Amino acid sequence: MKRLVIISFATVAMGFGFGQIGDGPVVKKHVSQSDIEAGNMGLPEIFSAGHDLFNAKFNMFDGQGRPGTTGGGAARTPGSAPLFIRTSAPDSNSCGGCHNDPFSGGAGDIVANVFVLAQVLDPVTESISADFSDFRNTLGMQGSGPIEMLAREMTADLQAIKDMTLAEATTSGSTVTHDLVTKGVHFGSITAHADGSVDSSAVDGVDKDLIIKPFHQKGAVISLREFTNNAMNHHHGIQSVERFGVDRTGTHDFDQDGVEDEFTVGDVSATTIYQAALNVPGQVIPRDPVFEKAIINGEETFKAIGCDGCHVAELTLNDPVFTEPNPYNKAGDLQVSQVSHLFSFDLRSEGQMPRLESKGTGAVVRAFTDLKRHNLCDDELQHFCNEKVVQAGIPTEEFLTRKLWDVGNSAPYGHVGDLTTITEAIYFHGGEARSTRDAFFALSQHEQDEVVEFLKSLQMLPPDTASLIVDENMQPRSKPSRRNLPDFKN
Ligand code: HEC
Ligand code: HEC
Repeated sequence: MKRLVIISFATVAMGFGFGQIGDGPVVKKHVSQSDIEAGNMGLPEIFSAGHDLFNAKFNMFDGQGRPGTTGGGAARTPGSAPLFIRTSAPDSNSCGGCHNDPFSGGAGDIVANVFVLAQVLDPVTESISADFSDFRNTLGMQGSGPIEMLAREMTADLQAIKDMTLAEATTSGSTVTHDLVTKGVHFGSITAHADGSVDSSAVDGVDKDLIIKPFHQKGAVISLREFTNNAMNHHHGIQSVERFGVDRTGTHDFDQDGVEDEFTVGDVSATTIYQAALNVPGQVIPRDPVFEKAIINGEETFKAIGCDGCHVAELTLNDPVFTEPNPYNKAGDLQVSQVSHLFSFDLRSEGQMPRLESKGTGAVVRAFTDLKRHNLCDDELQHFCNEKVVQAGIPTEEFLTRKLWDVGNSAPYGHVGDLTTITEAIYFHGGEARSTRDAFFALSQHEQDEVVEFLKSLQMLPPDTASLIVDENMQPRSKPSRRNLPDFKN
């Protein structure tokens, strides 16, 4: 109650124009979506506003806190939960409070882990037990613009295969089955019957709606925008107008913290575009023949033993222009039909350096993932099957193939972040990855070390680095050719 009184006083005081010094909102200027759509703000300006929103340590004047709602957005009795609580959240002051390692937008130490799904509990839980939440390590967003665009193209391909299967079945009057393959990745198959019914039981590694959800280690969220709307409410109690505004909830202050319309549509766009336009991870190859040789050999071995069966070394993005909002967004996240113009920028030539590499009319995404879910558990190896709380209907043992393009500087490892070395993370690859994992441990120690050294070279690079491949001083260099290495092996 006391808090609400302070806020209404401050709001009134500022309205009278004498609230400029002293405590006040951290976000001094909100972003207007109409300015973005009208082209009044260019990418650099939006990126800078998004950076500030991502790193803002929100306070009560901004609308930090959600006394009247859970982190899932359900109503609750105001005052029934603490202002901050590490498990059920609000758990932090800014997005950057967790995503800051080694740069803003990056990954996080295990101390920045989230108790995923504890936020939906009412009453809140103080328990860190796996019975109540899924303990997960913070991911880096560098390169997430290309990842979201890959997912959109793959979704379009899978849905086109489904439409084609259905059309063939109804015109031919018989049952038709097609493999679901996009960009070389197999997602099982789909069957349609003459009566227009569809059998999705053989769909594999993606939801039955065939929408690739590239975010969360579980693959549960469609777009950076959807994640941003979720995370703002979950972690900070900052409620976006597009998700919690009067049109959807009938009130301007759904979380009942005394601040109305906390986060504008433009604010969400800027925070989203900031993440999408962060630089793309690259490779650090020291100018030292021992390391050059290890990295080049290690990459070959990584492919030779089949790691790239899931950690696909390169995927082609046909159209490297990022557009906002995402056409597959659900209600509560800005829809394409709600904007006059999509905001767009070319991932190859705009945004933070270094950027995506061109390939023909498209671009190459070297993220080392297939954006598909896999089960890495078997009778003997159970490490990655620790979770009990089901997220978005996805089997608890399935996780998206982890992107490896930042693995060299995003320790710790595994979805919990409880593994301190890369070798341990490989060790626990059972289930679908068992044969590849066994092939790794059948290598000589030196060959294993080369694979690890290759993975260590894949890193998030400092903002504005000139090139995707750099030496130990972050200076551009070319990838050494195997033939030029001393005594290269065949
Ligand atoms: C308390 C720490 C914490 C805070 C604060 C936080 N995050 Fe995260 N973030 C995480 C963790 C942990 C994950 C991985 C979640 C998972 O895999 O289920 C994650 C994942 C993400 C992802 C998905 C990345 C991917 O590749 O799948 C996005 C996007 C994201 N966060 C955006 C945000 C934004 C925007 C904010 C601020 C509104 C924010 N996060 C605040 C810890 C945090
Ligand atoms: C069947 C698919 C599959 C294969 C094959 C596979 N991986 Fe993975 N990999 C995954 C998945 C899924 C994860 C996420 C595990 C988790 O944390 O739940 C992962 C995670 C990792 C991680 C942890 C990264 C991090 O930042 O936490 C490393 C390292 C890794 N894999 C390396 C390898 C290597 C090396 C090989 C070959 C020996 C390999 N993987 C083969 C699917 C696979």
